[in-house]
Amino acid sequence: MTDFPPDFLWGSGTAAHQVEGGNTNNDWWDWEHNPDSPAAAPSGDANDHWNRYEQDFALLAALGQNAHRFSLEWSRIEPAPGEFSRAALDHYARVLDCLAANSLTAFTTLFHFTVPRWFAQRGGWLAPDAVELFGRYVDRVSAALGDRMPYVCTVNEPQIVALMAHGLGSFPPGHRDIAEAATVNGLLMQAHRTATSALRAGRGKPQVGTSLQLPVVEPLDPTNQGDAARAAGLKELLVDSHLADLTAGGDVGDFVGLQYYTRLRIDSTAPSPIAPPPAGAETTQMNWEIYPSGFGESLRAAASTGLPVIVTENGIATTDDAQRIRFLESHVTELRSVMASGVDVRGYLHWTSFDNFEWSHGYHPTFGLIGIDRDNGLRRVVRPSAVAYGELARTGSLKALRGGAS
Ligand code: BGC
Repeated sequence: MTDFPPDFLWGSGTAAHQVEGGNTNNDWWDWEHNPDSPAAAPSGDANDHWNRYEQDFALLAALGQNAHRFSLEWSRIEPAPGEFSRAALDHYARVLDCLAANSLTAFTTLFHFTVPRWFAQRGGWLAPDAVELFGRYVDRVSAALGDRMPYVCTVNEPQIVALMAHGLGSFPPGHRDIAEAATVNGLLMQAHRTATSALRAGRGKPQVGTSLQLPVVEPLDPTNQGDAARAAGLKELLVDSHLADLTAGGDVGDFVGLQYYTRLRIDSTAPSPIAPPPAGAETTQMNWEIYPSGFGESLRAAASTGLPVIVTENGIATTDDAQRIRFLESHVTELRSVMASGVDVRGYLHWTSFDNFEWSHGYHPTFGLIGIDRDNGLRRVVRPSAVAYGELARTGSLKALRGGAS
């Protein structure tokens, strides 16, 4: 007997700037090369996935996965305002055809953290016509690729963009203004709706959703009013505002993408509002607490919108692959029990297929099911977790993650 429905989508994901290499025309490239930014290293060639996608997809399919999430690089598609690259759109058409040829159901993300340099230079999301310009890009994507895209994730983690880029200064443009973060959060909700209508009006009939990171947000000390108030403020920005928007009416898409990593405990007395993990807790390379029951909470929160849920990210940065397998087992077990209680979840896309460029942290954190040997021509190194995960995908049975034990 299997633990999951036979048509369940099992895959993994990437994002253009983290794997393609040579994305020289976006805001992140400038950020990585700005000595005043917190970026640890430039993305450079990344995994050279732009050139190696055929081998990469064949490998993921051979391992047993049946779905794959990737993103389009807006700065390649629209290198100058209103100037669209036929060659870049053709490249992504080949990428989508290659996924289909490998029986990998494609999830295409339209905006995963990077924007074209020209868009950033005219004020990014704060420019008065930013959402409109995003809509124009989506129109073109839809006209060129719409009938090849079964699933589209419009905006990747709007709240994380708002918080990291405009509240905490860790992503470009590096602003530290929580009111501005709230503004951008709202603008990105509009961007999702604008993209949804562009896709509805365009070619094909993709299933559309936004991809929200929904961490569990709690006060460090629930009896401390400062902690409780600050946690409530952050939860409003990261979680509640988006759940409210998805239930406010209008066309908000066909599914909600859920991304879950950890729990955030808020300490109002510390300079960084996010308290370190509790003493003795198991943590990851990012020093994030491993907290599988929070995955259940987040799945239920996402499902409270009434939309079917697809897990578009969940994963761990670790140098210990056995820990990755344990992480998979605990989180997929949580997923199964939430589904058994009636929550409608259609798929799970692990983050991430390959070790990659982890934004301001550079190449140090390793989130991949497959490693990249950066000293040996970017050779792909299949980890035992990739094999075990592929077996889960093939069989739908959690036994795959327990080394075959029942
Ligand atoms: C992002 C990914 C990132 C991952 C791990 C998510 O916030 O969508 O691009 O690599 O988390 O930090």
